[in-house]
Amino acid sequence: MDTKFKALVSRYIDETQVAKNIELRDIEDLPKHDTLIKVEYSSLNYKDTLSANGHKGITRNYPHTPGIDAAGVVVKTEGNKFQAGDRVVVTGYDLGMNTSGGFAEYIRVPEEWIVPLPKDISAKEAMIYGTAGFTAATAIFEFQKHGITPESGKILVTGATGGVGTLAIAMLAKMGYQVVASTGKTDLSDYLRKLGASEIIHRDEISDKSGKPLLAKQWIASLDNVGGNTLATILRSTLEYGIVCNCGMVEGTILNTNVFPFILRGVRLVGIASAETPMKRRLEIWDKIFNEYRLEEYNFNIKEVTLEELSNEIDLMAKGQQVGRILVKVSN
Ligand SMILES: NC(=O)c1ccc[n+]([C@@H]2O[C@H](COP(=O)([O-])OP(=O)(O)OC[C@H]3O[C@@H](n4cnc5c(N)ncnc54)[C@H](OP(=O)(O)O)[C@@H]3O)[C@@H](O)[C@H]2O)c1
Repeated sequence: MDTKFKALVSRYIDETQVAKNIELRDIEDLPKHDTLIKVEYSSLNYKDTLSANGHKGITRNYPHTPGIDAAGVVVKTEGNKFQAGDRVVVTGYDLGMNTSGGFAEYIRVPEEWIVPLPKDISAKEAMIYGTAGFTAATAIFEFQKHGITPESGKILVTGATGGVGTLAIAMLAKMGYQVVASTGKTDLSDYLRKLGASEIIHRDEISDKSGKPLLAKQWIASLDNVGGNTLATILRSTLEYGIVCNCGMVEGTILNTNVFPFILRGVRLVGIASAETPMKRRLEIWDKIFNEYRLEEYNFNIKEVTLEELSNEIDLMAKGQQVGRILVKVSN
């Protein structure tokens, strides 16, 4: 077997600049884990833009191959759970962070990170969901556990046109929920309506600067992708015993709030850390994605690119300019 393979490699070219190029790497240089996987598809997530562009809080050592998602086929394993030929998906854990990631023809990972793919789910479909879909599904799982039904009230999704936002809106709408989409791209309102949002608001409408301890009650549940003052505003405008799931920080990492949403309205704030999801729960959520939450149609932007075309897509996502999902076709 030829041990050379193609990979996107980020490397510092001076103290501040990182170049992203396609390089030939050797399988022997992959981490010494038990299971070698040939990657067919990967997908692009916001965290990849940080890793690919040299963010040392995400990836300590460069040169590095990013890609927190991968779906493909087991080539060789020294573990007990899988066999050569098994079709699998890997998202999160340390993949693409400090472990060589899915923007490459091969990954080698511990079998404990691997989820089997059902027969009727292709690597491509698995990657349409990827970490973005898994994160959206985790929030829906939390809403359901909290007793939220389509009759409970409106559900707010921020960062609506991004990967997580897109999949959250599509899955919630499919399940009959009434979704309010918050976006900076209100020119894409028709697109968001087609996706299933029943109301579109500009992101400025949920960035309150009045300093009021509580605001008018608007939503029973939220999936917040952006953090910062938006999250602080959402907490103060959530209905009694509502739930707010936060997974992201594209607006900011500081949460400046007060205790009133919690002690006067019983609002629950739930963190989502999809990469760290324990395997038992991970399997449960993937099962939901492949069954109850599975979309019948993909009526949103899915841009399929090659490894060679990926660098440009990473730069667009870093600037908040992507809409929907970016799929990476890695090999056949
Ligand atoms: N914790 C976890 O497990 C987990 C998992 C996946 C993702 N995440 C995080 O969730 C967030 C979204 O991830 P993604 O992959 O969906 O990214 P993405 O595709 O880049 O989407 C982010 C969206 O946020 C909005 N946005 C961009 N800049 C903004 C700003 N300055 N202020 C407010 N909104 C802004 C944009 O949507 P609009 O123009 O429509 O507003 C953008 O499309 C990221 O912070 C990511 O790190 C966390």
